[in-house]
Amino acid sequence: MPNHPDVMEKLVSLCKRRGFVFQSSEIYGGTGAVWDYGPLGVELKRNLQDRWWKAMVRQRDDIEGLDTAILMHPRVWEASGHIGGFVDPLVDCSNCKKRFRADDPKIKGTPGEPDAQCPACGMKGTLSAPRLFNLMFKTFMGPVEDSAATIYLRPETAQGTYVNFLNVQQSTRQRIPFGIAQIGKAFRNEITPGNFIFRTREFEQMEMQFFVEPGSDMKWFEYWKEQRMKWHQGLGLAHDRLQFHQHSADELAHYARAAFDVQFDFGGSLGFQEIEGIHNRGDFDLTQHQKFSGKKLEYFDHAANKRYVPFVVETAVGPNRTLLAILVNGYREENVEGETEGRTVLGLSPALAPIKAGVFPLVKKDGMPEMAHKIADDLRNVFPVFYDDSGAIGRRYRRQDEIGTPFCITVDGESTTADTVTVRDRDSLLQERIATDKLREYIGQRIAE
Ligand code: GAP
Repeated sequence: MPNHPDVMEKLVSLCKRRGFVFQSSEIYGGTGAVWDYGPLGVELKRNLQDRWWKAMVRQRDDIEGLDTAILMHPRVWEASGHIGGFVDPLVDCSNCKKRFRADDPKIKGTPGEPDAQCPACGMKGTLSAPRLFNLMFKTFMGPVEDSAATIYLRPETAQGTYVNFLNVQQSTRQRIPFGIAQIGKAFRNEITPGNFIFRTREFEQMEMQFFVEPGSDMKWFEYWKEQRMKWHQGLGLAHDRLQFHQHSADELAHYARAAFDVQFDFGGSLGFQEIEGIHNRGDFDLTQHQKFSGKKLEYFDHAANKRYVPFVVETAVGPNRTLLAILVNGYREENVEGETEGRTVLGLSPALAPIKAGVFPLVKKDGMPEMAHKIADDLRNVFPVFYDDSGAIGRRYRRQDEIGTPFCITVDGESTTADTVTVRDRDSLLQERIATDKLREYIGQRIAE
């Protein structure tokens, strides 16, 4: 198995310096495990989400899009099992007030007993016996803060889809098998968050629920496993850094009959970790919502003249975590032949790169800045470009390499007379001379590759 280096620390610094990801409320010392996306990060995340939406909704006639609210009726979470089942056993230290998962390997002894030692302050006998802690964030709806007004921030987008199953099916007249996809925020009061944007308390999900006839569920489960792995490979993630992990019986979530994770090798000690979960949820969710709401959530199969509660095959991927995988996968430091200074490159696929081209005048005279501005303005109508005329040309290349810009267009002495420019490829460093009126087409094609 290849041993990929740990690039996390370097990435965190690059992300802040270049405007991909900032710590939330940084000037107040930060909010625990919550991050903001800067100008480049938001472009990269949108490109990723658009790509998922295109593959899962726009390019298929058997999947519909949906966008449901974060705040839902509290009974939803009773029905889904999240109030009872979405819990971690935790222990508290009465001395330093820190909280740990009960199965934290750093705890010595048995929590609740005098021999147990706090892994943070080292005191013995201060750890409580394990208590169940719900991972959902609670808040209150309306002016009264009592238990009747308690609602939750959703911990997954899927439930918004289940409660709308019939609304979508009847309004679109879809027939089973069909799916419903949505992208949206989810919140979990994670006890052991960390590794930058890998595990956070506020994050996004891109989830698709595929409704099938009972009995055909394992066939569709296999189909979606294959489709989703291909999608991750298509992002440019190295094939040897991707693998499936099958959930054993004790790993399965309370709703799942079978589950596989798509894992990515983040390198260093983090290694292979889940970036997407593919679950066979059976009829668990729809049956529970029928029971708790008293409303039927059955599908009527006209051809077979029968009614049934469909089974669900779910694909659930986090854009934040996948974005981290893309950054880790693309980060490299290398020497350049003939140059003393090395370079840092984000080898992002051109389709995902936040900026598609840097546009530079070689020097700030002889009509070059004017021509470069005109080219940048024209290209900006089609894709994001960055105009830069400051510093040596080599420095300008390096600045774009570091943020993953696949092409750099330079207006030089020949450009103003021949109406051509050079286009430098980030990875091969080769430069081609291209007519300015062919630039849109040239870059458009390379982005689509
Ligand atoms: N509806 C099923 C579900 O929520 P999950 O495996 O818990 O399944 C799906 O979550 C995906 O959401 C994960 O593979 C991961 O990419 C993302 N995700 C989950 N918890 C996360 C967290 N705390 N921070 C960032 N991403 C998270």
